[in-house]
Amino acid sequence: MDFQDKVVVVTGGASGIGAAMVRKFSGLGARVCVADLNMDAAQGLADQVGGMAMRCDVTSESDIVALCDGVTATMGPIDLFVSNAGLGRGQPGHAASASNETWMLNWNVHVMAHVYAARALLPQMIERGSGYFVNVASAAGLLNQIGDAAYSATKHAAVSFAESLAISHGNDGIGVSVLCPQYVATPLIDLADDDAAGHPSLMTADDVAQATVDGINNKQFRILSHPVVGEYVKVRANDPDAWLEGMRRLKIKAERELGQAGIKDFYKLV
Ligand SMILES: NC(=O)c1ccc[n+]([C@@H]2O[C@H](COP(=O)([O-])OP(=O)(O)OC[C@H]3O[C@@H](n4cnc5c(N)ncnc54)[C@H](O)[C@@H]3O)[C@@H](O)[C@H]2O)c1
Repeated sequence: MDFQDKVVVVTGGASGIGAAMVRKFSGLGARVCVADLNMDAAQGLADQVGGMAMRCDVTSESDIVALCDGVTATMGPIDLFVSNAGLGRGQPGHAASASNETWMLNWNVHVMAHVYAARALLPQMIERGSGYFVNVASAAGLLNQIGDAAYSATKHAAVSFAESLAISHGNDGIGVSVLCPQYVATPLIDLADDDAAGHPSLMTADDVAQATVDGINNKQFRILSHPVVGEYVKVRANDPDAWLEGMRRLKIKAERELGQAGIKDFYKLV
């Protein structure tokens, strides 16, 4: 994709991976809208890159519609919509211990937000015969995140919805990529760029933003910023029981070495 003058929206664009994408796309000449719950940070970043900011709660369909309408009115038809907003709450105990509220929040942020964006934009994209969705899932959407069943289940659903989009609308001229990073040094897991130095399993948000641009340019559906994830996916597909046994060993290792199956430091184990 030639990003020059393209109109791009990034949800969750005020922090972490989203903010790195905003800077990357803007640097390539795109006109970018930073959409986030955190309006102060979104506006600050938009001012830095010469873009626009809009407050948007991605769990609200009317907010997503207003975002798409506002961006279209201000900058023109949306060429690329990045559904990136996400969260990780973990679980207090067993695999079903997170509250229903936490499960529904994961579902709404990680899945329904992607559905709302597609519903808002597909008719006009189909009519134009062009448009692109980048839906940010996770390696947990292909594998699993120990200690967060709601995150893992909803990220799987996000991958599946992206597949449905790609199958249903590839012939309409619409591109779809699903980004599935492993560990990235962002506020989501309380880590920063310095933590990533010397740890290949922990990437910086800038590295992931570059991998995303490369993936879009290659019209790649599944963007694996951490290539090793592709190897794990093959192992899981070839022998699910052996893969589960490996994950159980990893859980024991995490509890022994990290004191708990905490998500923040998992990158040190893989
Ligand atoms: N950091 C990682 O290790 C990692 C790994 C794989 C996938 N991801 C995914 O990458 C995406 C970005 O994560 P990040 O690490 O940059 O996190 P982050 O916490 O740095 O940024 C997330 C942003 O999303 C925004 N947000 C959250 N809920 C929102 C809502 N309802 N409406 C609008 N904005 C909302 C937050 O305000 C924040 O600015 C998420 O989807 C996450 O699941 C992250």
